[in-house]
Amino acid sequence: MPQGLKKGFVVLGIESSCDETACALVEDGRKILSNVIDSQIELHRLYGGVVPELAGRNHVVAIDRAAKQAVKDAGADFSDVDAVAVTRGAGLVGCLLVGVSYAKALAYSLGVPLVAVNHIEAHMCANYLDTDAEPPYLCLLASGGHTALVHVVGYNDYRVVSSTVDDAAGEAFDKVARTLGLPYPGGPQIDWLSTSGKPVFDLPSPLLKNGNLSYSGLKTAVVNLMHNVAQRGEKLPAEDVCASFSRAALEPLLSLAEKHLKRLGLKTLALAGGVAANGYLRGRAESLARKNGFKLLLPEKKLCTDNGAMVASQGYFLLAEKGVNCDLTLNAEPTLRLRGDRPSRR
Ligand code: KG4
Ligand code: ZN
Repeated sequence: MPQGLKKGFVVLGIESSCDETACALVEDGRKILSNVIDSQIELHRLYGGVVPELAGRNHVVAIDRAAKQAVKDAGADFSDVDAVAVTRGAGLVGCLLVGVSYAKALAYSLGVPLVAVNHIEAHMCANYLDTDAEPPYLCLLASGGHTALVHVVGYNDYRVVSSTVDDAAGEAFDKVARTLGLPYPGGPQIDWLSTSGKPVFDLPSPLLKNGNLSYSGLKTAVVNLMHNVAQRGEKLPAEDVCASFSRAALEPLLSLAEKHLKRLGLKTLALAGGVAANGYLRGRAESLARKNGFKLLLPEKKLCTDNGAMVASQGYFLLAEKGVNCDLTLNAEPTLRLRGDRPSRR
């Protein structure tokens, strides 16, 4: 457990990297005092995906409201906030800038430290919220922008051990859903339809020989399968396509996780990122953990997708172990990655 910060240290976490304006108060990096998520999903659904310009504009409108609501829900006052943490990247630049600018102004006016957080690292910190979980563990991280198996050595020490070389798993879910004519965001729709389908179609595995992953081939295979059938004037049962795709997309992640856990001698598997809300993945991870005697960390679904609590948690652990990491010149970093993420295809 990191030392150095007073007990009862409250961080206000701000997340605005995509289509959620989210603010949360978290105590000592773990205890959620409030968690406000102002989602723009309904707006972007009209366009079949996130429209960056609209998302940025909506963050401007929502962010002050979300921050005030988070303080109110915690039964607190702004003077109770000991630090402000904000997502600096990765994400849409116009969206990130809203959160970064608001966080700077807030930290300055309150006279408290500002901490800049990597969104991908924050996703993994969802595993500390309302739990006493500690590193080391292996994290299966799958979101709309990133997919990797990460050896979490310490609170701020991450080693990517496998990663996608092209699309993220969530991206593949969203593209397959769009081809099926399902509304945005596609991941939860595929999740839901899969429960009443059978995985009858053989699809290519995203697993590469070198232990990394490639989701672009799997996505194209599903799209081709549907187009070929459509050309014959037929239609495939969407439920079976979803079940087949879910199995093909997620089983390799689990088998890679099992391999790395054994190789690294780790005893704990954690899930993180939006795709970790997937029912099939959660169920199969539970079976895998039971079979091997691993401990499983499974954040509740609301904490897998974007939220401010995970940002506050990562901000706390950064501050506790490394101190203040930015000043008022902080800028958005839309292409920020985890160290060692996205290797070459070879
Ligand atoms: O972590 P997240 O909220 O945002 C990013 O950082 O990208 O992840 C969003 C991604 C989207 O691709 C969405 O379709 C996917 O997570 N997702 C799911 C589920 N819920 C969200 N994918 C599969 N099953 C779900 N239940
Ligand atoms: Zn995210």
